Amino acid sequence: MSLQDVRIINLPKVLDDRGNLSFFQNSDQLPFEIKRVYWIYDVPGGEQRGGHAYKDLQEVIIALSGSFDVVLNDGRQEKVFSLNRSYYGLYVPQKIWRHLENFSTNALALIATDAFYDADQYMRDFDLFKQVANEK
Ligand code: TYD
Repeated sequence: MSLQDVRIINLPKVLDDRGNLSFFQNSDQLPFEIKRVYWIYDVPGGEQRGGHAYKDLQEVIIALSGSFDVVLNDGRQEKVFSLNRSYYGLYVPQKIWRHLENFSTNALALIATDAFYDADQYMRDFDLFKQVANEK
């Protein structure tokens, strides 16, 4: 996979004077069936999360509240996506290195994935990741 496979998904936005509403459901808005959802919150200033790639796991990352940057690297180049709207989903396919940083106060990152949690899915050594990514 390369950074060209990464994209922003525009989630539905139902505008209403009472407050807006967005949603996703299997599998209309996302390019995979959701198996797991987790969220990251209460991130102290200056901290980073992530810092790994997945062997075979796709995900969509949404800034449900506040803002943060998602730094992506396919082993050749790096790209930063600043997320700050709850109706934008950042689609990240497998084998892309990513970390989240620059969290605002009260930032809430929601991550929907197509796989159950499995520690064996993680690639945590960036040099090794780069080597494997550049073999293709
Ligand atoms: P980890 O994936 O290492 O966090 P980060 O993406 O910031 O590197 O996860 C931190 C801990 O939470 C680790 O002990 C595994 C656990 N965890 C689960 O049990 N289930 C999950 O779905 C996730 C994402 C993490």
